[in-house]
Amino acid sequence: MANKIRVAVIGTGQRGPAHARELLGCDEAELALVCDIDEARAKQAAENFNVKYVLDHREVIAREDIDALAIATHTRHHAGVMRDAATAGKPFLVEKPYCESIESGKEICEIAERQGVVAMVGYQSRFTTFAQEMKALAEQIDLVQTNVSLQRGFFNPQYFFPEHYSGILDALSHTMDLALWWTGTLPVEVMAHERCGLFKPDKGAVEFVNITALCEGGQIVCMTGSMAGLQMQNIFQMAGLRGNISAIDRNRIRYVTHRGFNEDKTPIDLKTGEWTGSSNQGTDMWTHFARCVQEGRTDVSPGASLREGLAQVAVSEGAYRSSNEGKAIAIAL
Ligand SMILES: NC(=O)c1ccc[n+]([C@@H]2O[C@H](COP(=O)([O-])OP(=O)(O)OC[C@H]3O[C@@H](n4cnc5c(N)ncnc54)[C@H](O)[C@@H]3O)[C@@H](O)[C@H]2O)c1
Repeated sequence: MANKIRVAVIGTGQRGPAHARELLGCDEAELALVCDIDEARAKQAAENFNVKYVLDHREVIAREDIDALAIATHTRHHAGVMRDAATAGKPFLVEKPYCESIESGKEICEIAERQGVVAMVGYQSRFTTFAQEMKALAEQIDLVQTNVSLQRGFFNPQYFFPEHYSGILDALSHTMDLALWWTGTLPVEVMAHERCGLFKPDKGAVEFVNITALCEGGQIVCMTGSMAGLQMQNIFQMAGLRGNISAIDRNRIRYVTHRGFNEDKTPIDLKTGEWTGSSNQGTDMWTHFARCVQEGRTDVSPGASLREGLAQVAVSEGAYRSSNEGKAIAIAL
């Protein structure tokens, strides 16, 4: 393998070109090819990034001069491309949400694990210093409760369709992944209330959602999202037996640590602090993934494994069912 891994971007809609741009700034990986079933899009991306294009992802997978794929097709098309890549042993970074159903996601995990394929879900937020600081702090407070919100402005038309990975749930998948990663255990049950079609009655996409997930270790994760949140701040809070952490948006964290409370409510060994920072998440994600590919490392942490991608899909899918069926939904991963 050359020093830089050679990457093909599959799917050149909105997100594929963003990967191509991020690869331009990466010392460990380079864009070598683009692919789209829509020839006009493929051709345009090829011209923009000065590489060749093909129309069939199987042709890309078969090429020995391509070391890895960036799969940026629409979520409903991820599984077919991932199945072919995993079966052929080709490393891939797949966009979030990882897949369109728990069944197909489990199947792909099994193939990739059996084949020893280096595979990662593209949760670039994990590569911010903010997210990594939250993770390090969460490990110190004996975490019990996580509350996160994602308030966004209005979405592009390709995210309006009546499925559990549509609408606000598409973007909220990043926040869910962070909340589950920080919490450090898997979800076992989910309850949710969702509102669909208030802005676009004919589309049925999820526009507002409140989800509660119960995790294996008893932790409770609450996740809220809407696409009516123009200019609203996003809030992250974690409370534990030994401290708490709070952040507004993603550039400032306040934290408190202690060893419990005395009878008179005084915290024992109280420490408080603040943190601010920033980062170059997309390129950092590619640098990390490229190193995993170069070293054949299937443990892609702190990147998201396919199993972690599956956990997020299970929460979204469970939330959709819970809201429609009016009951808690058990999650078996
Ligand atoms: N990480 C992020 O912040 C972020 C941001 C936006 C979108 N996304 C995700 O990226 C993915 C793509 O989103 P988008 O908005 O670009 O979608 P899109 O629908 O605009 O583009 C998808 C492209 O994939 C092509 N395609 C479908 N099947 C194909 C195949 N087998 N081979 C080659 N090309 C194929 C389509 O023709 C289309 O051009 C989605 O999963 C979305 O959730 C992630």
